[in-house]
Amino acid sequence: MAYIRKDVSTLTRAERRRFVGALLEVKRRGEYDEFVRTHIAYFVSDGEDGLRTAHMAPSFLPWHRRFLLDLERALRRVDASVSVPYWDWTRNRTAASVPWTADLLGGNGRRSDHRVTTGPFAYAEGDWTLKVGITDEKYLTRDLGRARDPIALPTAGELESALREPLYDAAPWDSTSAKGFRNGLEGWGTGRGSVSWRNHNRVHRWVGGVMVGGASVNDPVFWLHHAFVDLQWSRWQQRHRGARYLPAQPPGPRSDQYERIVARHEKLPPWDVTPDQLEDVSGIYRYA
Ligand code: CU
Ligand code: CU
Repeated sequence: MAYIRKDVSTLTRAERRRFVGALLEVKRRGEYDEFVRTHIAYFVSDGEDGLRTAHMAPSFLPWHRRFLLDLERALRRVDASVSVPYWDWTRNRTAASVPWTADLLGGNGRRSDHRVTTGPFAYAEGDWTLKVGITDEKYLTRDLGRARDPIALPTAGELESALREPLYDAAPWDSTSAKGFRNGLEGWGTGRGSVSWRNHNRVHRWVGGVMVGGASVNDPVFWLHHAFVDLQWSRWQQRHRGARYLPAQPPGPRSDQYERIVARHEKLPPWDVTPDQLEDVSGIYRYA
């Protein structure tokens, strides 16, 4: 039977405690750092050659869906009552709201070096030392809202403009796709600086610290953010009945994207699964 992913603001005290406890145990077992490693390995931009699966590509959504499922399975091996909650950043919009509480993910980083000093993932607690990263820092960092150069979280209206897109994705199938739900949600825009980060991308920037870049998995908010992104895919499917993952067929040898993106029935590395197989997960979980 399908289990439920809940809005993090609705978790009871016991549910919060169990979710945090399962994360810490997955970290203690050494499994968590494998997720960080995988995400770094698949942090490939469309300026590079070769296959892109996780970002700047149509398979951004199925790739992260499967990635979350793997983490969730690791959590549920520890505690079968746990699932990944989602953070609705259109509603919980400040550094004082969930999930930034001491009984969940802890708060903002301190001013001097952005080190997180509150909650279960604070370095001094001893349970959340960063072992895999793109910098040498061993402690979790955040800069919620970016004190020196403030940005706001995406609004419900911004998210809505992505959900209105009738096509899943569109050529050229990369960070410059002007049409399509996938890039509307992933959030590569035109222009320079903060105006060019929309929806999913803007949230990474708003959190700041390790959430910017390939090692973003080091902040557990990664999963809550991507659960909400994943929920949008389900909402988009409900709104655009019959709309499917695109492209349906791989681009041909004359295309710029030949062998660089994953079509609907192609394997999605590092897994033995296709986007098509990940379009309906209602038998595994659903969102409350
Ligand atoms: Cu990612
Ligand atoms: Cu992301």
